[in-house]
Amino acid sequence: MKKLILIATIALAPCFSAQEMVTKPYQSYQTEAYKVKKKAFVENLLAKMTLDEKIGQLNLPSSGDFTTGQATNSDIGKKIEQGLVGGLFNIKGAEKIKAVQKVALEKSRLKIPLIFGMDVIHGYETTFPIPLGLAASWDMNLVQQSAAVAAKEAAADGISWTFSPMTDISREPRWGRISEGSGEDPYLGSEVAKNMVYGYQGKDLSLKNTIMACVKHFALYGAGEAGRDYNTVDMSHVRMFNEYFPPYKAAVDAGVGSVMASFNEVDGIPATGNKWLQTEVLRKMWGFDGFVVTDYTGINEMIEHGMGDLQQVSALALKAGVDMDMVGEGFLKTLKQSLEEGKVTQAEIDLAAKRILEAKYDLGLFEDPYRYGDAKLASKEVFSKENRNVARNVAAQSMVLMKNENNILPLKNSGTVAVIGPLVNNSLNMTGTWSVAAKHGEAVSLVKGLQDNFGKDVKFVSAKGANIDYSEKLENVYAAHGKLTDRDNRPKEVLLKEAVDVANKSDVVVLAIGESAEMSGESSSRTEIDIPQSQIDLLKELKKTGKPIVVVLFTGRPLALTNMKDLPDAILNVWFAGSEAGNAISDVLFGKVNPSGKLPVTFPRSLGQVPIYYNHKNTGRPLGADQTEKCVYERFRSNYMDECNTPLYPFGFGLSYSKFDYSAMSVSDVNPKGNQTIQASVTVTNSGNYDGAEVVQLYIRDKVGSITRPVKELKGFQKVYLKKGESKKVTFNISPEDLKFYNNALKYDWEAGEFDVMIGTNSDEVQLTKINWTK
Ligand code: BGC
Repeated sequence: MKKLILIATIALAPCFSAQEMVTKPYQSYQTEAYKVKKKAFVENLLAKMTLDEKIGQLNLPSSGDFTTGQATNSDIGKKIEQGLVGGLFNIKGAEKIKAVQKVALEKSRLKIPLIFGMDVIHGYETTFPIPLGLAASWDMNLVQQSAAVAAKEAAADGISWTFSPMTDISREPRWGRISEGSGEDPYLGSEVAKNMVYGYQGKDLSLKNTIMACVKHFALYGAGEAGRDYNTVDMSHVRMFNEYFPPYKAAVDAGVGSVMASFNEVDGIPATGNKWLQTEVLRKMWGFDGFVVTDYTGINEMIEHGMGDLQQVSALALKAGVDMDMVGEGFLKTLKQSLEEGKVTQAEIDLAAKRILEAKYDLGLFEDPYRYGDAKLASKEVFSKENRNVARNVAAQSMVLMKNENNILPLKNSGTVAVIGPLVNNSLNMTGTWSVAAKHGEAVSLVKGLQDNFGKDVKFVSAKGANIDYSEKLENVYAAHGKLTDRDNRPKEVLLKEAVDVANKSDVVVLAIGESAEMSGESSSRTEIDIPQSQIDLLKELKKTGKPIVVVLFTGRPLALTNMKDLPDAILNVWFAGSEAGNAISDVLFGKVNPSGKLPVTFPRSLGQVPIYYNHKNTGRPLGADQTEKCVYERFRSNYMDECNTPLYPFGFGLSYSKFDYSAMSVSDVNPKGNQTIQASVTVTNSGNYDGAEVVQLYIRDKVGSITRPVKELKGFQKVYLKKGESKKVTFNISPEDLKFYNNALKYDWEAGEFDVMIGTNSDEVQLTKINWTK
């Protein structure tokens, strides 16, 4: 290889915009006078409404622009005129939305404005990394900023309500929707949930650049059996409350305006009809006072669940605490009859209608029904250069460096680089799943990003090398929602040879492999979590050239990388990075940005280990620490004969181009008492050659409890930016609040005793101090 010169720039701290961080729910800014006025307004309006009009507010049809289920709605315009529609979703464009709002305002009797929803999941037209990638940034400023940009764009285009954040904890890589959440951890998941809500809703929901959030899918959708989408969930209450509920609750505490019920059952009752969940837990225990919407045809699906006919399941949902019926029209078609037959009460219908009207009031829609959607503003705001710059930064910060032998990365800004892989020239797949508003064709492909940013000094040559999968049938399944994969039907040997020829002419190979965008997402469960064989064969063939290989990994889920991880020199996990994917990947590959992402979810060695997660319990027969580390099998211990217990990459793992040294940890008091707050600190030094960021992680283990406790739980993290040579002291405050959990009686409290306090660079590499906390 030629002697190549290192490019000088390694980014410092990410460039935050001037935007101010929100730290409180928008409701906390509302005055008493506002609340009194709102109550009077809504009561007055309700008093004027007929039964049909009240039920109409509970009806949320899809416009049909984009459907995810079987049902479609008819005659929407007519129904709007009759006051039989509360809101509409999946309609895009300021002018279109304005026209529909006009029908409600000019043709319906009470002129109640509609609320317009959309799945603005990880950005609007400017698309950010998939949520799993966003969580990997561990940067809550950026998380909030990404939601604020999404809100600004969506609002300018007429949207007032997003079906996000999705906060379903998942330890199930077979489940495609693991890509839409924040991974396996309740603490990280809660931080992300809170900041997404703050980002969307801001300090004032009625502003032109904020929209209402909807936390979903309540609850436990990420724990479906066998990772099959929509499947049965069965879990203990202790597990729900301690491990799966926290992120939903964090969104509620952050003032989320709405909640979406999940498709799955909880305790044998579908979440949509589960009163314990939607009323006892959500409203009574957590104090939620917004509205609950079903998921797409969630009420109707209770018929298939075996809960009765449409009238029965609709009544069940209303009585459970559901306020709005997405798509299925169960409420619209049956509630009147149920009221006549005494199966639901007038008060129940009134309450649901009141909650919808209150949300519209907070959105400012009664004051100005056209406040969202301004075509002129949209043409300036949506997909603006400024927003795309934010997305580029967030994308780069989400990438996780999983391997970097001989410091092959960052690449040098000269010579010839081969860019190989099924998606290297493919814009459509860069934005990832659930990006309904994205400008797919305008997302920056890897080849384009590299060429545009470094093409002046580096020669890039590219080849496809292989298709996503040998099976054309499967590849067609994967290319859902128009995300075509440009299948090349020439014999595989021809594709491989082309790639090898290109590699042979280069100094280094950048090989982009993994999944295509819709191999994860809704209804995208897989029984294998490996990289498809066609791409592994490509990697093996390229390995024979002897060229250094940098794998750029596209994925929406934790993959089992065991059969490939030794072959490349470096692995950079880029998830699906959004509109600016190619630019952001180039920034990281060439060292304009030093990677600092950390895994928000465990990467297993093999599917057989699943579910595998860092915060597991110990069992009565744990494998010893030494055996675990050395992967030694021991009979009558909790382990596998044919596989280690440890994952391939642990939760919280991620490398940097730099090196961070941790000092010995110090704890201010190892015998704290009562409600004291103690400090645990380390000094972190950047002893490498590049400026960069490190996510310092705090874990705690409760050694003895009235119920069994996890071997460790994340309780804090700080992302610190350090210039090369720089040191910073990182301090975590720990109080009994951090030790609390739900006991067997579901009482949330802490128990005195011994605790391990751990600080480290990932969930596996920590230093430990024992403390004894008395009451
Ligand atoms: C998904 C939801 C989504 C809804 C509306 C459903 O299929 O489960 O997450 O918000 O469709 O598009």
